[in-house]
Amino acid sequence: MTKTILITGSTDGIGLETAKMLARSRYRVLLHGRNADKLRKAQAIVAAVSDEPHVEIYEADLSRLSNVLALAEEIAANHDNLDVLINNAGVYSSAMPAMAGQIDVRFIVNTIAPYLLTKRLFPLLGPSSRVINLASAAQSPVDLYALRNGAKLSDGMAYAQSKRALIMWSRQMARDRGERGPSVISVNPASMLGSKMVKDAYGVDGGDLRIGADILVRAAFSDEFANASGMYFDNDRGVFAAPESGALVARQDEELVRAIEAIVETLTRDRAQF
Ligand SMILES: NC(=O)c1ccc[n+]([C@@H]2O[C@H](COP(=O)([O-])OP(=O)(O)OC[C@H]3O[C@@H](n4cnc5c(N)ncnc54)[C@H](OP(=O)(O)O)[C@@H]3O)[C@@H](O)[C@H]2O)c1
Repeated sequence: MTKTILITGSTDGIGLETAKMLARSRYRVLLHGRNADKLRKAQAIVAAVSDEPHVEIYEADLSRLSNVLALAEEIAANHDNLDVLINNAGVYSSAMPAMAGQIDVRFIVNTIAPYLLTKRLFPLLGPSSRVINLASAAQSPVDLYALRNGAKLSDGMAYAQSKRALIMWSRQMARDRGERGPSVISVNPASMLGSKMVKDAYGVDGGDLRIGADILVRAAFSDEFANASGMYFDNDRGVFAAPESGALVARQDEELVRAIEAIVETLTRDRAQF
């Protein structure tokens, strides 16, 4: 049976390139984006590369957790099973970084939204499913005070902390779910690939996006990632590796997840407000 893959942030960059690669292999691809026009264009682009296209589109702004909940509900209404969830959507620069409750938008979009989406999609993600989380070589120890209280961080620092936090909850989720749940794997797709994020942030053209798409397809389906739950793959070096910026310990992962849960609880208490 055709496998079903949801890719968040697949209207551009690595996500769009990955969707094309998967569609070429006739997988059923669920595209997600925050902009209806871009989504329709992406759907046409992805469908055009397949001789048997099955491409669905889902709109949600992941900086609003009410949208994350609605996205999970919409996917669950249309599908009983997801073979792969690729949490790819991400943001680096922001002119207005403080979101609801003053939480930095990088923490919301890069860390908390994929956590919440994955949890809400658990009923569709069985033990043979894989969750691939887009990490980065940019990682910095997470300042829980800044996370909880919205202390102002530079773009680079907020991004690096959000990516380290993503790796930390991935490890904790892998431990918590064990054999009952999907594999949860963090992947740095390779640094400085030529997406709009890299062009905007660093003013460079960047490398071939297919390098990132290729490793995501491998992470999604290949045997080399079969026993990788909780692990971090660094595609700059082509190896499973310890995260950057020092070793992680389970106690810190647990503490981080408790902080994320508290934020989710606060921000989702009144769905209309966020
Ligand atoms: N490029 C690299 O070298 C590199 C290196 C390491 C990690 N990464 C990671 O790879 C992932 C993909 O990034 P990229 O380089 O391909 O960047 P990109 O071209 O900017 O793509 C980011 C995607 O995320 C979507 N997105 C951003 N904010 C969103 C929001 N609030 N709600 C919903 N969707 C949102 C974007 O939607 P729009 O199309 O509407 O903007 C776009 O589809 C990111 O997680 C990034 O951190 C990239």
